[in-house]
Amino acid sequence: MYESLSSLLSSDLNFHDKNSTYSSHAIHAFAAKFPPQLPRAFIESLTNPGDVVLDPMSGSGTTILEAYMLNRRGVGCDIDPLAVKMARVKTTPLEVDCFQLIPEVIRNAVNILKDEVKVNQAISSLFDRKTKEFIDYWFFPETQKELMALLLAIDNYEKGPVRELLEVIFSSIIVTKSGGVSRARDLAHSRPHLDPEKKPRMLSRHSNSVY
Ligand SMILES: C[S@@+](CC[C@H](N)C(=O)[O-])C[C@H]1O[C@@H](n2cnc3c(N)ncnc32)[C@H](O)[C@@H]1O
Repeated sequence: MYESLSSLLSSDLNFHDKNSTYSSHAIHAFAAKFPPQLPRAFIESLTNPGDVVLDPMSGSGTTILEAYMLNRRGVGCDIDPLAVKMARVKTTPLEVDCFQLIPEVIRNAVNILKDEVKVNQAISSLFDRKTKEFIDYWFFPETQKELMALLLAIDNYEKGPVRELLEVIFSSIIVTKSGGVSRARDLAHSRPHLDPEKKPRMLSRHSNSVY
């Protein structure tokens, strides 16, 4: 064990040029994510199939997902509830066709959006004054309506793994390196800065042609 560990530590652990987006690794941006090749190298070298791999600060679950793919039993925890949710979604196999599910959610959201009164009511009843000020700062009013329509569409799914997957995808369109729906610049890697030039992504710009 000691020899394997010291040979690993003296090896080249730079994985910058490697693909880190395979499997469900790239489902959501996360600031302090390991490149998957890093835990993979340690798990392969220091454990055997069936062993338990514990990551007590598991973040978005890179190590746990790698453990799972290498037939180990991954156990993780983290102080950040969004990270825990991401990790759970990334490591929960689902029999769901995302190519059907996602267009279905978007179609429902586009329909909900037609009922402006319902959407506006949801926006004004869900948030307290401070939260609403925060939302007004980061999101244009039209974006807020689209996001609320998406949330209401996601709310139609019963609590469980499919809904959690949708919630994580919802979060991923906000917390993103570039693009995204907020007025912030690079939310994935830095503190949020308002980008006055940014044109956030809009569902309505795409919904007619795609869905
Ligand atoms: C570098 S990230 C973890 C990366 C992760 N191991 C992976 O496989 O990608 C560090 C994580 O430690 C978590 N953390 C920091 N303090 C913690 C604590 N006291 N208890 C649990 N988690 C903690 C943070 O929330 C963050 O998600």
